Amino acid sequence: MPRMRSSSVIPHLLREQANAVQLYLQYKGYHWNVAGPLFRELHLLFDEHATTVFETIDALAERQRMLGAAAAYTLEDIRLASTIPHERGLPRTTQEMLERLIAAHHVIIEGMHEGFKSAESDQDPGSADLFARFVQAHEKMEWFLRELASEPPPTSEVTGRSSLAREKGVPAAAIPSSHAAPPFAGPPLT
Ligand SMILES: [Fe+2]
Repeated sequence: MPRMRSSSVIPHLLREQANAVQLYLQYKGYHWNVAGPLFRELHLLFDEHATTVFETIDALAERQRMLGAAAAYTLEDIRLASTIPHERGLPRTTQEMLERLIAAHHVIIEGMHEGFKSAESDQDPGSADLFARFVQAHEKMEWFLRELASEPPPTSEVTGRSSLAREKGVPAAAIPSSHAAPPFAGPPLT
């Protein structure tokens, strides 16, 4: 028997479809506009993540059709349904790009947990499976970004890099180790 519009999962699917469209555009915007010492790495990574996010949009929209609802497609509907922070101008640094993306993934991951719970209580394994698969993709993307944005361990070798990175507003990974404070040499070997 087909499911009807009363399914409580539909708003979760709509919200995540809209979030995926927004995040896709955000990734593409950063892919185009990124600059600095990590240009190549971030340019490629942002595009890779954009593709991963893009591939979720169709399934989220079509699942709503399967449950009896119309799928949103206008920019206005997408803007109204999305819950990730809307972009207001380009980030000033690559570190800020990473932080905004991480924040967006956190909102989506939480939303997908809610969607999964709703699908389970609706006895809707199809939607539950979709959220379970997509949340893993978002968790993996968030992990990659978090590692790139993170402070390296506090050893004498990297302390110089992380403070230099803070000054420049770039991820610590962008600072070549030649800029690092010299490591403690210790007594000469005899
Ligand atoms: Fe491109």
